Amino acid sequence: MRRGRGRNRARATDTEGTTMTEQADDHNPGTRKVFYALIDNFPDMIHSVDAQGNLVYVNRAATLLLGYTEDELRGMNIRSLYPPEILAAVEKGFREVKQSGAKQVESLFVAKDGTRIPVELRTLVLRGEEGSFTKTFTVSRDLRRIKEMQENLIHTGRLAAIGELAAGVVHDLNNPLTAVILATTILKRLADRPETTPDQLREETLSLCETIAESAATMENLTTRLRDFSRGVKEQHAPVDLFDPINDALFILAHKLRYGNIKVSCPVPLAHHIVRGDRNQIQQVFLNLFANACDAMAQRPTRELTVWIDPEDRDGAAFWRCAVQDSGEGIPPEIQEKVFASFFTTKPRGKGTGLGLSITRSILAEHNGTIALQSQPGQGTTFFVSFPATPA
Ligand SMILES: Nc1ncnc2c1ncn2[C@@H]1O[C@H](COP(=O)(O)OP(=O)(O)OP(=O)(O)O)[C@@H](O)[C@H]1O
Ligand SMILES: [Mg+2]
Repeated sequence: MRRGRGRNRARATDTEGTTMTEQADDHNPGTRKVFYALIDNFPDMIHSVDAQGNLVYVNRAATLLLGYTEDELRGMNIRSLYPPEILAAVEKGFREVKQSGAKQVESLFVAKDGTRIPVELRTLVLRGEEGSFTKTFTVSRDLRRIKEMQENLIHTGRLAAIGELAAGVVHDLNNPLTAVILATTILKRLADRPETTPDQLREETLSLCETIAESAATMENLTTRLRDFSRGVKEQHAPVDLFDPINDALFILAHKLRYGNIKVSCPVPLAHHIVRGDRNQIQQVFLNLFANACDAMAQRPTRELTVWIDPEDRDGAAFWRCAVQDSGEGIPPEIQEKVFASFFTTKPRGKGTGLGLSITRSILAEHNGTIALQSQPGQGTTFFVSFPATPA
């Protein structure tokens, strides 16, 4: 099919299945010249092979892409341009295109220097007057740049997700870190006080060390979560007794609650409310809700935090609905929707980042759970978090 060759007019079936006559018309040598000049200067590789798979035409882009000269390519069998491991698929594709008349597929070429080039092939079959196969006509687009851009996009997306998670981890480190700072301050004060008895010091040291150890374990879990995410390790979901994350969170916040003079009531029994999930993440949900409740009650005369769990039926599916009620300042109706948005906060700079409830909501979404709130400004707020129940 190289310039001026072949006197037969051939017909091709296009992608819509209609038949078209080869545009290089022998009766119009001018048109034919323009046609070949166009495809020779086309930016993508264009080639044509005969029934045996021998190259009968290549354009200039083919020589640039593959590193062979036009003479080297002409007569070469197309199979030698594919890596050996995909040859079986290539034969199958060749048979299919002969039948269907057109095909679009992603494949790989091997250049003269051995470089493997991902390409998108669009092949059209040219048929003779009697409808028999004469040759294929293929446009091959080099996909290297597109693939590189796709990889960059995936990498950028992952980096953005890591950034978001890191912001969340930094937020979540705050509560256990505060617990550690508070515990060491109390310990130092006790040790410095002349009236502290050795027994008192021993008892407080043991209790505060337990708080510090628990907080350190929480912080370690958080940093492990960030590291695992960067490495692509998925969270492990296992049966969790809601008693555990609720009491772990109360334990971590024990000093905040004690120093805030907050009365806690938590009639949640052991081994009764089982859900499937990640214990550390569920603990994070309660840490965020309890910390918010403490802040909301800071200026209130009565400070009561109550936690309870009710069974809930949702169209036959069993859920455990945990209520976290405070006697705080309440949330005005006009901002009740906004409190779940990332970075929404009414707290002064340095006190709140506005991430607690948005992290809580995404943890619940990951556990197929939900979060809702009821609030009466001036009276208090109750947050409800529901998890699908798992048989005990
Ligand atoms: N129990 C509550 N009572 C009253 N207001 C609340 C309560 N919980 C949340 N809010 C309101 O919702 C806002 C968003 O809460 P969120 O936990 O997302 O962020 P934050 O507490 O402000 O900051 P942080 O990132 O430190 O948690 C709070 O600033 C507060 O105005
Ligand atoms: Mg908060």
